[in-house]
Amino acid sequence: MATKASWDPETLWQQLQPVWPGISVEVLPEVASTNTLLLQRTADSTPCLLVAEHQTQGRGRMGRQWHSAPGASLTFSLGLPLAPQRWEGLSLAVGLAVADALEPLAAEQAPQLVLKWPNDLWLRGAAGGRKLGGVLVETTLRGGQRYCVVGVGLNIRPRAQSPADVSARPANPAAPAATLTHGYACVQELVRGIEAPQVLARVALPLARALRRFESAGFAPLARHFETRDLLRGQTIDTTGTPPLHGLAQGVDDNGALLLHDGLVQHHVHSGEVSVRLQPPATAHHHATASP
Ligand code: BTN
Repeated sequence: MATKASWDPETLWQQLQPVWPGISVEVLPEVASTNTLLLQRTADSTPCLLVAEHQTQGRGRMGRQWHSAPGASLTFSLGLPLAPQRWEGLSLAVGLAVADALEPLAAEQAPQLVLKWPNDLWLRGAAGGRKLGGVLVETTLRGGQRYCVVGVGLNIRPRAQSPADVSARPANPAAPAATLTHGYACVQELVRGIEAPQVLARVALPLARALRRFESAGFAPLARHFETRDLLRGQTIDTTGTPPLHGLAQGVDDNGALLLHDGLVQHHVHSGEVSVRLQPPATAHHHATASP
């Protein structure tokens, strides 16, 4: 069940206020989508952290749905007037801030929480990995400047099957329900017993600071650090986009563009979708396009 009492918006506000003066913190029991709601408030360009205990029409990238359930997911958006020199790389900076907050790394420690360009958080595992969360960055023009809405959705623990999950089940009726429930990863696999409000308490301030840094310095200072959590590097990948590309992922450039070598030349991929057949130590292959 949702644990409304433990969100503690007052403490969040005290932490965030020095970084984003004038910010408001709102926790709502149910909204269609936190991103949509912040984008609809056309007259308000003040910073806002909006948390939903439940989203009825959560949105992912490329027009996809984002499924969540009260208590089983953390869904929030940070709306800010933001003026970076370039927008590219922002979702990577967000993913890194969230990953570092949830899994601080000691020197030389191999991360379990990794990033799949351009906006996915994955948990590495025996069969390659599973998606744990996603980032949806949207901007709109407001009062002569860009208002940026950074939406973050994280699976906290497995959710009960929704009708959508059932319709997406494999044709084999004998397949156990758990197969689908575990098609995605959850923060609780990384931090035992942690609940959505505690996850928010961990990530909100680092994320707010990361957005300030991104605004002034862009992605370049993060490029080396991104390497440690880059799920795709060294993998053979396919991208959508025009033209679709196939080749070896070679990391990202200083702007956050994906580097792909197709055997002839290195491409800088600025947008689109990537699919990869991860080569895990085990023999099983996992196709990496799933979104919860
Ligand atoms: C993706 O994986 O494609 C991005 C998912 C982003 C989901 C979050 S949940 C909070 C915010 N509100 C939304 O409707 N979407 C984002």
